[in-house]
Amino acid sequence: MKPRLGVNIDHVATLRQARGEKYPSLVDAAHKALESGADQLTIHLREDRRHIQDYDVPAVKLVCERYNRPLNLEMGASEEILDIAVATKPEWICLVPEKREERTTEGGLNLKGEGYSRVEAITAKLRTGIPGVKISLFVEADLDIMECCAKLNADAVEIHTGDFAIHYNREEDVSRFLEDFKRCHEYSKQAKFAFHAGHGLDDKNIIPLLELGVFEEYNVGHWIISQSLFTGLEKTVADYCKLIKNYQV
Ligand code: PXP
Repeated sequence: MKPRLGVNIDHVATLRQARGEKYPSLVDAAHKALESGADQLTIHLREDRRHIQDYDVPAVKLVCERYNRPLNLEMGASEEILDIAVATKPEWICLVPEKREERTTEGGLNLKGEGYSRVEAITAKLRTGIPGVKISLFVEADLDIMECCAKLNADAVEIHTGDFAIHYNREEDVSRFLEDFKRCHEYSKQAKFAFHAGHGLDDKNIIPLLELGVFEEYNVGHWIISQSLFTGLEKTVADYCKLIKNYQV
């Protein structure tokens, strides 16, 4: 199987919100990313609305429907965002931490104690409100956390690759990260949930992950939108797709 690319277009909205203008158009960016080969679009409706706005969610969903590709909505465990998710019915929801207490020290979801109950409650509401929705949990590569994800009946985990990326970019040893990714992937196979990656990835630090061959989906945003300043969104997405489709999972 070839790995899939989810293009996170949040930072097109960051630029738009910086001036409160209508441009750059998120809908145009959504079209261009999908036309250029993205397998899905990812957006994060944050509680502080710093980039994606409420009206963007159904608009991007419509574009995804036109290309018959999934929308992956990232959200924190908040009732208000839940209502918007239920109204829009994305194919995938990725639950992410937004507040301090929802994070582990590294940055993925805290699934201990109250954190577990919070995710369990929101997951149940999402499954009731959006029949057939697939839920992924943005977490650290840790076996205890994998066990919690299995208990929560997650359809996928999205492994937080941000710390790996920082170490790689500083040319530091990343072998312990790769070992953790491999170990957690073994667990995911046996527990039968999908294994995704996201955060901090670019065209260089993704290579060791592609070579490891354990992630079936990558969600990449900041680098793709930044690189688009120089090479355009269509070429950037098309080149990135080409790069990752050279590998197998
Ligand atoms: N996956 C998740 C869960 C995220 O929160 C983000 C950042 O919004 C990304 C992927 C994309 O990360 P980046 O913008 O660093 O590529």
